[in-house]
Amino acid sequence: MEIIREISILRARIKEARSQGKLVGFVPTMGCLHKGHLALLDKARAENGLTILSIFVNPLQFGIGEDYEEYPRHLESDAVQVKKAGGHIIFAPTVKEMYPQGHATYVDVERLTAVLCGASRPHHFRGVTTVVAKLFNIVNPDQAYFGQKDAQQALVIQRMVRDLNMNVLVHIIPTVREADGLAMSSRNSYLSPAERSAASILYKSLSQASEEIQGGQRDAAVIQAFIVEKISLELLANIDYVAVVDTEEIRPVKEISGRTLIALAVRFGKTRLIDNIIVEV
Ligand code: PAJ
Repeated sequence: MEIIREISILRARIKEARSQGKLVGFVPTMGCLHKGHLALLDKARAENGLTILSIFVNPLQFGIGEDYEEYPRHLESDAVQVKKAGGHIIFAPTVKEMYPQGHATYVDVERLTAVLCGASRPHHFRGVTTVVAKLFNIVNPDQAYFGQKDAQQALVIQRMVRDLNMNVLVHIIPTVREADGLAMSSRNSYLSPAERSAASILYKSLSQASEEIQGGQRDAAVIQAFIVEKISLELLANIDYVAVVDTEEIRPVKEISGRTLIALAVRFGKTRLIDNIIVEV
């Protein structure tokens, strides 16, 4: 396992692997790795001859007053985990390597980024798509792996790949959860013990909503209100949004039919957590 910081060196390694006929699998992350990230890495490892995981806390996707400075950075322990999991390369560029002075080009997916998380984090997805497009251009992967945990991000990236004819197969991997159902996230470490315990309401409310739907409920407004009511019982929870949307344009639906995304963002103190489920009826 090798840690590479420079684009030119990474490109040389990839060229060498390609000349040996290896497929290149890519897992973009911001580090502070947990079992969610490792599930993506495992899949990439199983399906490709060369597995690259990037660790880059991307300043472009953090808004003013967000947690760019505090975002946990643990390259050493991350490297131990990647090595153990059989990953081949960590690409950990500096901000200067990714955004040298004079950087002026952005990738912006419209409509899909104006809703849900995009409504309260206006430039967030432009930062995500710009860095992922740059990373795809640097790595030129055959296959790339993203988590269902960030459902809107996954849909936005799939749309970018389709719209810009990027030659990469995007895989979406199911959300890995803690024992009480809380979706694993690098940001869970910000939670106080009381907030951590309260946060289990997110997946509980989504699971109960799913049961309501399996039981025949099809009214999206009823399901939305059901989840809001459950979460509101937790005094430490502050709802940003609960939404029932389609999985193409991320538009609110009236009636639940076909593939439907139920997504939410909730603040516990200063920590904003997201979660979602997809139901198919
Ligand atoms: P980060 O939050 O580090 O997540 C990296 C990848 O891991 C994303 O695809 C995310 O959806 C996935 N992931 C996170 N938690 C997961 C969980 N509990 N189960 C399954 N997958 C999970 O998402 C980003 O970084 C950045 O926006 C990035 C795409 C790297 C661009 O900067």
